[in-house]
Amino acid sequence: MTTYVEAIQKSLVLPLEKVANKVFTQKYNPLYYHGALPNLFLWALFLTGLLLLVYYQATLSTAYASMKYITYQAPFGNAIRSIHRYAADGMMIFVLIHLFRVWFTDRYREYRIIPWISGIVLFTVLFLVGLTGYMLIWDQDAVALTNVTINLLRSFPVIGTGLAGFMLATDLSGSSLITDYTITRMLVLHLGIPLLMMFLLWWHYLRITRPVTDAPLALVLMMVGGLLLVAGAAPVVLGDMAPPDFAVVAKSIHLDGLYAWPQQLALAGWNMGVIWLMVLAVPVGLFVLPYLQKKALRGQFARVVADNCTGCSLCYNDCPYEAITMVDRNDGSRFKRLATVNPEHCANCGLCVGACAFKAIDIPRCESKDVLAEIEAALAGQSLASA
Ligand code: HEM
Ligand code: SF4
Ligand code: SF4
Repeated sequence: MTTYVEAIQKSLVLPLEKVANKVFTQKYNPLYYHGALPNLFLWALFLTGLLLLVYYQATLSTAYASMKYITYQAPFGNAIRSIHRYAADGMMIFVLIHLFRVWFTDRYREYRIIPWISGIVLFTVLFLVGLTGYMLIWDQDAVALTNVTINLLRSFPVIGTGLAGFMLATDLSGSSLITDYTITRMLVLHLGIPLLMMFLLWWHYLRITRPVTDAPLALVLMMVGGLLLVAGAAPVVLGDMAPPDFAVVAKSIHLDGLYAWPQQLALAGWNMGVIWLMVLAVPVGLFVLPYLQKKALRGQFARVVADNCTGCSLCYNDCPYEAITMVDRNDGSRFKRLATVNPEHCANCGLCVGACAFKAIDIPRCESKDVLAEIEAALAGQSLASA
């Protein structure tokens, strides 16, 4: 572990963890369920999003009116909308905590590279879901956000016009305009990307033997309670919607910076090229991060001593990296199954050695007999000291 990681751990992570342990107790500390909680918020988003869809109408002339109906008239409309909004914020906050924790606990590279890379894709598409969600409101802020986003896309070298074209439709005179298609496409992205996320999550968990995808019930109730509390204390409102002038770019947008920070920077007058560099630096930086650190020991994977293996599967169940498979054996042994190690997946963590009661699996760098000898020597030293 490098010193700057230690410094972050001491000055930030451990004090925060201590406070959270006091508030929630160690068993229900949300910081320990950093992977499971984004899942919880995702389900809350699915459920409330489905309810919002009952009343939402995706056209230029009806989108704002339907949002107004949801916010001020539909039964529980405002509560559902508020929970949807705060669940989106909660998801982004916990994804950031999750990202940070897997990074500083060094569980993101080598054998964890698949969850890391898929995580970067999840993180990127999550931005798009949030962004399109804010556009769907179609109040004055949403119109401004759409305008700025189109300008940002246009400024992207070479493919910018094409990208912006996705948000526009061309009229008979050849001009590109914001039309009903703009809203329809934003809705398709807003609904379609979360479905894609389900597939990405399957990829995310592919190399994790037992991913902790659910938080304990008590923590789930605390989080849902928190969501309801915030939604009740600060219900979301709707901005103005005078007949919108699409040519006018607002001076500021009242949106949360978690999802719309590039647009906020554009409105603050930042150079578009610099904003794109900052936007792209996030996934690219995360992508190269695992390759900047030193590699762990390679080529020293676990190996099975076939004569001792009873096929009990304990090592298979304990291996966190899906590196062990149980295969049928036909070598004349009285046991039916044999553990087999896939060297490509093995992180030489040693858990299987601890799991095996038959001395049937070893790691060349620390064979069981040597570890036992060390333990015995240490115990002998201890008893001498206490004598
Ligand atoms: C939609 C957002 C995400 C969800 C729902 C999610 C969910 C999860 C869950 C449930 C686990 C298993 C945790 C455990 O067993 O302790 C996990 C592991 C992991 N995630 Fe995510 N994740 C998301 C985004 C990300 C992002 C943005 C990154 C980083 C770029 C990331 C990187 C990882 C890594 C490296 C692991 C393996 C850690 C380990 O094995 O201890 N994830 N994720
Ligand atoms: S050492 Fe054993 S438990 Fe660890 S990854 Fe390799 S096979 Fe799996
Ligand atoms: S725990 Fe030991 S005996 Fe059991 S399957 Fe694994 S290697 Fe074989």
